[in-house]
Amino acid sequence: MKLNIALLAGDGIGPEVIDQAVKVCDAIAGKYNHEINWTPALTGAIAIDTVGEPYPDETHEICANSDAVLFGAIGHPKFDNDPSAKVRPEQGLLKMRQKLGLFANVRPTFTFPSLIDKSPLKRERIEGTDLIILRELTGGVYFGERGRKDNGDTAFDTMTYQRFEIQRLAKKGFEMAMKRSKKLCCVDKANVLEASRLWRETVQTMEKDYPEVEVSYEFVDAVAMRLVQWPKDYDVIITANLFGDILTDEASVISGSMGLMPSSSVGSKVSLYEPIHGSYPQAAGKDIANPLATVLSAAMLFEDFDLTQEAQAIRDVVNKSLAKGIVTEDLSDGGKAYKTSEVGNWLAANI
Ligand code: IPM
Ligand code: MN
Repeated sequence: MKLNIALLAGDGIGPEVIDQAVKVCDAIAGKYNHEINWTPALTGAIAIDTVGEPYPDETHEICANSDAVLFGAIGHPKFDNDPSAKVRPEQGLLKMRQKLGLFANVRPTFTFPSLIDKSPLKRERIEGTDLIILRELTGGVYFGERGRKDNGDTAFDTMTYQRFEIQRLAKKGFEMAMKRSKKLCCVDKANVLEASRLWRETVQTMEKDYPEVEVSYEFVDAVAMRLVQWPKDYDVIITANLFGDILTDEASVISGSMGLMPSSSVGSKVSLYEPIHGSYPQAAGKDIANPLATVLSAAMLFEDFDLTQEAQAIRDVVNKSLAKGIVTEDLSDGGKAYKTSEVGNWLAANI
């Protein structure tokens, strides 16, 4: 297969982890006879510094005309402590999600046999966890009406959802549940929010189309608690943008490291693959960041092109590196800590 992939390294550790994913993908292409053409493009703080815009039109053109986008991370501390900054790196990410129509964010949570004891949660609670949070990504409070009034003393952000936005996300959730253990949980705050009541109503009317799927409805505050208490109770979770943002960070604790969890964002033609961790600026340029979440995001990419063997080969080599202790300092536990680039080289060599 021939794949044109836009490569958006972004900020902080982004370029370093992306480099390793490219090595691994190129090794896969060599082994399974594919051709991958990479087209790098600017996004994030680096794009602001270079062209004054976090998601330049040129970058959008490259993404929109590719088969997929592989993305590193976005964000720089110089913007975080400056509430007056007019352009922020994060706006680039939001614009990209919106312009590429990436309305569904797929964030799996699973455990790695060799890392179970890294999680702060008890082994018996988490062993065998395998759930997916499907987060709505282009609506809700992230994109609702916002502003200031009363001379700036009042600020508002509104959570708005249209029925079709909930339907298209829920459809993906139902379809995903059908391929898995046929359990779908709609997470909302319908005891308080009108937008959440529309979510419930919409999902309820879709239940009849998927009679085999067992659907439950839970409030987000309760799920925040139950997710780390009994993660194995969940299979596919569908939820609004902000709730999903929070719950997916929480869920990453189950696996023991945020450095491990991949994600995909899908919707229209081109999908985007990225680690769920951030730009980790403290580690930028030091060759110490964990590249595995990005490498595993590349596995999700292959999976979506029905290249199942290739995806499995990536997951296998990652598991092998974890079992052998070929890991970066966040996972080395006092043992030898490998550099980001060394882990990437080892993975590529062992594909
Ligand atoms: C994420 C991030 C982003 C979000 C930020 C960087 C805008 O936290 O991808 O989860 O909130 O969606
Ligand atoms: Mn987040």
